Amino acid sequence: MIPPKQVQEILDATRIEEVIEEFVSLRRRGVNLIGLCPFHGERTPSFNVNPARNIFKCFGCGKAGDAVTFLKEHENLTYPEALRWLARKYHIEIQEVERTPEQLAEMQLADSLYIVNEFALQHFQQQLFDTDEGKSVALAYFRKRGLREETIRAFGLGYAPDERDLLLRKARNTGHSPELLKKVGLCSQDGGRDFFRARVMFAIHNLSGKVAAFAGRTMSAEKTIPKYINSPETEIYVKNKILYGAFQAKKAIRQLDECLLVEGYMDVISLYQAGIENVVASSGTSLTEGQLQLIRRNTQNLKILYDGDPAGIKAALRGLDLALEQDLNVRICLLPDGHDPDSYVQEFGGEQFKKFTTENAKDFIFFKTDLLLDETKGDPIKRAGLVKDIVSSIARIPDPIKRSVYLRECSGLLQVSEQILVAEANKLIGQTLKKREEKAARQPSAASDQPAPSAPPPAWGDDPFFPPDPGAYFPPSEAGELPPEWTEKQVAQPNNEVKTAAEYQERDIVRLLIQFGSHILPQEQISVGEYILADIEESLSDFDNPLYGKVAMECHAMLLEGKTFDQHYFIQHELAEVANLAIDILAEPWEFSPNWEAMWNYPLQNQPMPERNFNLDMKQALDRFKLKKVQKMCAINLQRVQNASKEGDHDAMIRFMKIQQKLNETRNEIALRTGTVVFGK
Ligand code: GTP
Ligand code: MN
Repeated sequence: MIPPKQVQEILDATRIEEVIEEFVSLRRRGVNLIGLCPFHGERTPSFNVNPARNIFKCFGCGKAGDAVTFLKEHENLTYPEALRWLARKYHIEIQEVERTPEQLAEMQLADSLYIVNEFALQHFQQQLFDTDEGKSVALAYFRKRGLREETIRAFGLGYAPDERDLLLRKARNTGHSPELLKKVGLCSQDGGRDFFRARVMFAIHNLSGKVAAFAGRTMSAEKTIPKYINSPETEIYVKNKILYGAFQAKKAIRQLDECLLVEGYMDVISLYQAGIENVVASSGTSLTEGQLQLIRRNTQNLKILYDGDPAGIKAALRGLDLALEQDLNVRICLLPDGHDPDSYVQEFGGEQFKKFTTENAKDFIFFKTDLLLDETKGDPIKRAGLVKDIVSSIARIPDPIKRSVYLRECSGLLQVSEQILVAEANKLIGQTLKKREEKAARQPSAASDQPAPSAPPPAWGDDPFFPPDPGAYFPPSEAGELPPEWTEKQVAQPNNEVKTAAEYQERDIVRLLIQFGSHILPQEQISVGEYILADIEESLSDFDNPLYGKVAMECHAMLLEGKTFDQHYFIQHELAEVANLAIDILAEPWEFSPNWEAMWNYPLQNQPMPERNFNLDMKQALDRFKLKKVQKMCAINLQRVQNASKEGDHDAMIRFMKIQQKLNETRNEIALRTGTVVFGK
């Protein structure tokens, strides 16, 4: 047990940002630090850490708390385990009160599994370094493979001699339960034999450096013996969430903002030893979503190193669409024939390795295109399949700008017109969206009793009011009915106010008015406030949020009276709600659209330096605002079309359809300006 006095000492020493930095890459945003939330999959950071108050909060999933909560949740630790973790980090020696056997028995299963693994690791290391057989057989093997002692220690390598139950016996003699050995897969199910025998051992660490499992490699070249054997899945070894080497690599991955992915244990270790530390291994299996998320939390850039034959590589590429969905920038590098990363770096050294992989890495989409093009030469039918294959990869990229760049480039490579590729991509995106909608419709969301916001700008270039077929005007769903996922998209704000997605554009307009209202636009020679209000004059009475509407109207009235307004005016506003809004907006730039990109797929221009960028920022905000209003009108008008159709009033129907067409055009025009891929023409 940890004495209460020490608990306080540990908590006092703890700095939340230092703790979370061990798991999540954070960057500064004002007084806070932000990063990608480790508790839910996301592509746009909404995970906030407040060093001053020693707390974290995710505005995406709502998880919040202090460093101890974080460790409990993230590392699956109990309260005392979290405290011990912190004590270790801050070099505080815990004067623990002796544990009774009962307390020992009460310890969490996970904790005891780690302890058994740690015990086994020490055993394997001792066998490697301190026994004659270990030195002459296993250590010699590692040396022959070019590993230095410090590397061998850093990666927890060891040796399991060819003995029936050496580990089991030692466990019994030192009070470790054979039951636990069985549970972590270190011995046979009948408890009679060690699992790893006559193998060099590799410890597999979790992200915080605890031993989660082992792999053992035979030193024999005998083909009938499996080269590697692994611990089974356990509570502490969930294979699809662990990447070999991630613990040792995570710091370098963040620093270099790139993750190298190799296949084998030896590849990771050799590269690390050669100074290439940002490397992890998938351990011979294809990447899982969990592993990709783990990478994505630390960097957006993934470089995959392949050895092996084209057929194998082709199979591997199929799995990589998942990486595109995570919005990773994937590059592929093929090593020269006969080399894997380990053998290459051992032969040519780290510098040459870096040079080679830098020069030869190729963007995944282009790599795949080239590879398949080669294969389908002179076969038009296969070529058509190839086009579909490539486009289906591109369609998974969430970022519409990236998508359109790829489509353009591939149109050249494939010799297929860009329009056809865009149409094909949009078809696939539409199908995906429809599936998602159907799924959402089958599981009505908890938020469905909230008022539905009007349609946001098109994510994925889709819009239910714009069917993929340019000739058809009627969407499959009822007019005015919105996809459930849109109604779900509400984001809890720091002040616990829930905003509907539709209100973001309005808030954005208000932010611009408050923040930059009196700035003079260099080109137009009028103020931002004048520009905005002239532009949206006819929508002023149409704000969904009454407070934002009030601010906009007031600004408008002031301009008409020839008055000006700036930040101070709003901060000292006579209405407390307006003053509070202004303070909110000005104090917390990140606050007002934490999920913007995820929701709208529209990169925010105002994040890094709004002061410098307000011109572009303003025009985009205006576009988003107008897009939303047009979409609302589309929905209303479509309802009219359908009513007219139901009533058999053909004249009215044609009239409304013409209006619809006009609205569609306006909407397309704006969408085009905002860089969004749109259906139809
Ligand atoms: P070396 O041959 O020692 O250089 O190992 P390597 O790490 O280069 O392994 P290799 O390229 O042969 O295989 C890549 C990865 O696939 C290995 O690191 C293992 O994770 C996995 N693997 C290879 N062989 C086996 C096997 O027989 N069984 C299992 N379960 N996994 C294997
Ligand atoms: Mn190898």
